[in-house]
Amino acid sequence: RPMVVAIDGPSGSGKSTISRRVAAELGLAYLDTGAMYRAATWWCRRREVDLTDPAAVAVAVRAMPLQMVTDPDAPRVVCDGVDITDEIRGADITAAVSVVATNLDVRAELARRQRAEIAAETHPGEGRSEGRGIIAEGRDITTVVAPDATVRLLLIADERARLARRARELHGADDDATLEATRDLVVRRDADDSTVSAFMTAADGVVTVDSSLLTLEETVAAVLDVVRA
Ligand code: CDP
Repeated sequence: RPMVVAIDGPSGSGKSTISRRVAAELGLAYLDTGAMYRAATWWCRRREVDLTDPAAVAVAVRAMPLQMVTDPDAPRVVCDGVDITDEIRGADITAAVSVVATNLDVRAELARRQRAEIAAETHPGEGRSEGRGIIAEGRDITTVVAPDATVRLLLIADERARLARRARELHGADDDATLEATRDLVVRRDADDSTVSAFMTAADGVVTVDSSLLTLEETVAAVLDVVRA
């Protein structure tokens, strides 16, 4: 049976980069579930859905024509025929995504779609060979979406390390002033997301990897060790 690797972690823990690298290394598909919540937010905007109306948001998201391209070397998000991969990383969607992601009907719908993506990569289809296996990454993959995954990992990093990564990603610098300017983005979203994720405590059977003091290469190696064990 092809393997399912579930990786959760907070913003700035490096889970997207690490997950892609590990998936490419092991020949697995790669699913960024955060990108699905971002896509849902983009779709609501496009349909001019009032984000403060939970019922309207849920109806819209159930009808969202979303396609996830799960190649770890070139993951893409296509919604309604538009490639929105880059646009959904923008400040506008980032600021709005937590409102959509805390909608329980939205979570149920996206979790259902995420399980379908995982199933497509792990179950032998009609006349098809078995799938290649998959890494799914997000905030509730080890606990809600795929609690029965082959390997479950929680990737953490202390606040300073996460701030520094985001600051370098967004501004190309990690001096004190830039860290302060990034703090709101990272820390506030952790708080906004706190109802969907309890990060510092790994669920039973979930392995924790702390990347605070590790380089990217070292973290990839540590995760590969856990997956191969
Ligand atoms: O890259 P970063 O960790 O900053 O964010 P992301 O992984 O793209 O996730 C964006 C948002 O989607 C998060 O802030 C959560 O609100 C939501 N999310 C979620 O609720 N559940 C998941 N499994 C993944 C993301």
